[in-house]
Amino acid sequence: MADEPTAQPSKKLYIETVGCQMNVLDSELVVARLRDDGYVLTDDIDQADAILYNTCSVRQHAEDKIYSALGRIKHLKRKKPELSVGVLGCMAQKDQGSILKRAPHVDVVIGPGQLGRVPELLAKAKADAKPQLAVSLARTAGSREHVTSSFDSYDADREPAVRPSPFQAYLRVMMGCDKFCTYCIVPSVRGPEQSRPPDSIVAEARLLALQGVKEITLIGQTVNSYKHRTPDGRITRLSDLLARLHDIDGIVRIKFITNFPNDMTDDLLQAVRDLPKVSRYIHVPAQSGCDAVLKRMKRMYTAASYDEMLARLRETIPGSSVSSDFIVGFCGETDESFEKTARLLERSRFKNSFIFKYSPRTGTKADGLFADDVPEDVKRRRNHILLDLQTAISLEDNRAFIGREVDVLVEGPSKSTTRKEGWDGPDQMTGRTACDRIVVFPGPESLTGETARVRIDQASAVTLFGGLADGAVERPA
Ligand code: 5AD
Ligand code: SF4
Repeated sequence: MADEPTAQPSKKLYIETVGCQMNVLDSELVVARLRDDGYVLTDDIDQADAILYNTCSVRQHAEDKIYSALGRIKHLKRKKPELSVGVLGCMAQKDQGSILKRAPHVDVVIGPGQLGRVPELLAKAKADAKPQLAVSLARTAGSREHVTSSFDSYDADREPAVRPSPFQAYLRVMMGCDKFCTYCIVPSVRGPEQSRPPDSIVAEARLLALQGVKEITLIGQTVNSYKHRTPDGRITRLSDLLARLHDIDGIVRIKFITNFPNDMTDDLLQAVRDLPKVSRYIHVPAQSGCDAVLKRMKRMYTAASYDEMLARLRETIPGSSVSSDFIVGFCGETDESFEKTARLLERSRFKNSFIFKYSPRTGTKADGLFADDVPEDVKRRRNHILLDLQTAISLEDNRAFIGREVDVLVEGPSKSTTRKEGWDGPDQMTGRTACDRIVVFPGPESLTGETARVRIDQASAVTLFGGLADGAVERPA
């Protein structure tokens, strides 16, 4: 009788991800690598054989959260010395060896350019009984000296179990950033801007479609700066890439984030207008409405040129929605400069805005050049003022949907605690319109992944509520 293969006991992996979509995707790829190495995911940190934190260093708050999490698991490592603990991503790149000094129970510190090596380094830390540090070369403004992994070294291996949902997936089209906004740590930790070859993006999108993915979100730090040149000189822009991805059967919606205002070219806007699968939603951060502040931030545009870009966008893509990021309390931001930002936010009528208090980052231009001179309570007040202005605008614009029917790509049961008024049935589903507005409506779970027509009858600043319209579900032929 042939020998039965003996099943290896699986090792349990607990992973926590903070920060941007790039990190969510990186974690998916790390989990895929570790799955091939015999790990299975667990939600129970106490049961884990490996605990990994995929980290962000854009603001101090995100870093503080990781150091407190590391503090909380110290006792686990004491109880179970064979437990592996890892710090991955941007903080690993930025803080490097100092993480091991502050948290000596950490076994691996691995920067974003080295994530393909996670299984190897976890094993090496065990074998050598010594922490492992794998980061890229330090990078300063303007330099391209930075060792990053190539796209194909680990992008192609995917793990559906950790996606936002089984039919939604991120797809990396660019790495790094060359803009060097003075407040931002990203260019030094994520390395130089590189556009991925279009053929491998299309191949990966096809693979995702075969796995049942219907919505792909193309990600890059400045995704609309995407430009790939083949050795024969042929250039592919983001608009060309969208057209190629549009042809893939099974993909019903394509999104892309995040955009840089100066690279919002007409060909891209026309592609969004002309390709029905492309979401009419554009995230294009303004950061400030004051020219002096924008200059200190080195954003390379003025408030007037941002206005012009937005007008062109709205003229080209009817029914689009736009969202933005703002930083309040950047170095030297006076009451007058803040007023200008508030006026820009008001006149731009964003669908929503993400508002951040300036957080100085060691190693950025701003940290070396300017004083962090806006007091914390002023930053907090300005943050609230912008949030209140944005909430009023979002509510007003959402109310305009009442009485209209919208097509919703259904994402699954709603986890939201905001419930439709007067509805106490059990099943509430959630999804998004083509212009990325969140819609919650009563309906069966079987609608997940389908496009449903919903008649809107209520609205809050973040959510539209409604009910299925007649003939509401579109199933692919
Ligand atoms: N402080 C506060 N916010 C920041 N962002 C980037 N760097 C900083 C910083 N040092 C914000 C920007 C960016 C978003 C992802 O994070 O608004 O668009
Ligand atoms: Fe940071 Fe500016 Fe690059 Fe965005 S464009 S990642 S804010 S440096």
